[in-house]
Order: sequence, then C-alpha cells, then structure tokens
Amino acid sequence: MRRYVIAGNRKMNFTPSQATAFINEIKPMVAGKDNCDIIFCAPYVTIDAAMKAAEGSNIKIGAENVHFAEKGAYTGEVSAQMLKEIGVEYVIIGHSERRQYFGETDETVNLRTKAALAAGMKVILCLGEVKEQRLAGITKEIVSIQTKLDLADVSAEDMKNVIIAYEPVWAIGTGLTATPEQADETCGQIREALCEIYGAEVAEATIIQYGGSMNEKNAAELLAKENVDGGLIGGASLVAEKFTAIVDAAQ
Ligand code: 13P
Repeated sequence: MRRYVIAGNRKMNFTPSQATAFINEIKPMVAGKDNCDIIFCAPYVTIDAAMKAAEGSNIKIGAENVHFAEKGAYTGEVSAQMLKEIGVEYVIIGHSERRQYFGETDETVNLRTKAALAAGMKVILCLGEVKEQRLAGITKEIVSIQTKLDLADVSAEDMKNVIIAYEPVWAIGTGLTATPEQADETCGQIREALCEIYGAEVAEATIIQYGGSMNEKNAAELLAKENVDGGLIGGASLVAEKFTAIVDAAQ
C-alpha cells in the first residue's frame, strides 16, 4: 500500500551551519522510525551541508525548485542535472509561494516537472486552491484542473516518481489548517483526477500529502485519513521536537 512521506519544506530558512546543526540534532530523534520516508527540502546552498550531516541516516535531503532547461542563459536558476550530480533525489515543484511571488504558472510547473522526471528525480508537486476559490465552492474543479495541467504529458510510468502535495493556500503559514475531513475530501478529489488521467491503479498508488499548518498537534488526525499519505511541513519542520512528533504520528 501507500507509504507515508513526511517532508519538511525549509523555505528560506537556515544557513549551511544551521542546517548541519539541525540535521545533527534531529538524526537520533528519528532514527529507526522507518514507517515513513523522511525528507527535508532545503535552499540550494545548504543542500551539501545538510546531505553531509544526514549521511548514513534515514533522512533524505531535497531541493525546493529546479529549472526546466538542461543548461543555458537562465541567470539564477539551477538545473536538474546539477542537482542530480550532487546526489539530490527529491525536488519540490509548484509551491504556492513560487506561484504567488515568482510568477510560476501551471505551464512552467509542468515544464519543471517533466525536466526533473527526465533527469531521474522524484518530484513533490504542490497544488491547492486559494481562499476565494474554497469559499466559492470550486475547490474540486481547481485541484483537478491543476492536476491535469501540471502533469500534462507525464507518463503513467513516471507517476511512480511523483508525490502530490495538496496545499490549500489559505492554510499555509496562517495557523489555519484544513480539517481532516476537508484534507481527505480534497486529496480524494485529486486522486479522482489522477484516475481520469491514468486509471485506478496509478491513482491508488500515488502518494498525496497534505500541507498547510500541519503540526505536532493536528498531524495524527490528518494522517489517519484514507487519502492523506503524508505531510509537507513548513513552520513545524524548523523545530526538531515538532517535526519528530509528526514523524511519530506516521508510525
Ligand atoms: P506551513 O506548515 O508553515 O503552513 O507551510 C506549509 C508549506 O507551505 C509547506 O510547503
């Protein structure tokens, strides 16, 4: 069946030395907790330090974005080949902060996703509705359109390397969490969209995380839901005890 994936999204937090200290702190706390995959996605310049600190542990280090071109005149960007060469396996794509502040669209999210998959990486694809869309009752339509656009031309075979993170934008960093029922329902709607594209087998096998103010208090209830296969955690991933408690909730 589907395996829990608990991932921290560092966002723009921790310098390399702080990343090293954090991984050294949390490593023994999550040791042996093998009922879920544990990933921290980190800013590019801290990846190397975090990976060295995580060596030999059950913690994997990923990136927070990747460009869609193999190389070229894209000042400030990083390619999948560059990440692969330093051993990065996972990458977040399409986070709502990228969409909101950096002009990311479903089209560029799709291009980045295909480039990462072509390079043999695993993608954590983020999508979710904004508050106005939830209030208007169109969440299902929004997440299914995003699922279809973001995964356009991604093969069923490649879906083995795609994790979807359902992140309602109104719940990110706000302290507002989707109720377990809302999270389950919307993750289920994303699964329905996957079923329409790829059929039931792929839809059932795809890991769908919830993200948006997940913390040590609400994780167990959210993770208990049928369609919620893990968490993508921002704020609470910066505190070792809080993140470990979420890992415990997935055991
Ligand atoms: P918070 O957990 O801080 O709400 O952030 C969620 C998120 O954006 C994870 O990608």
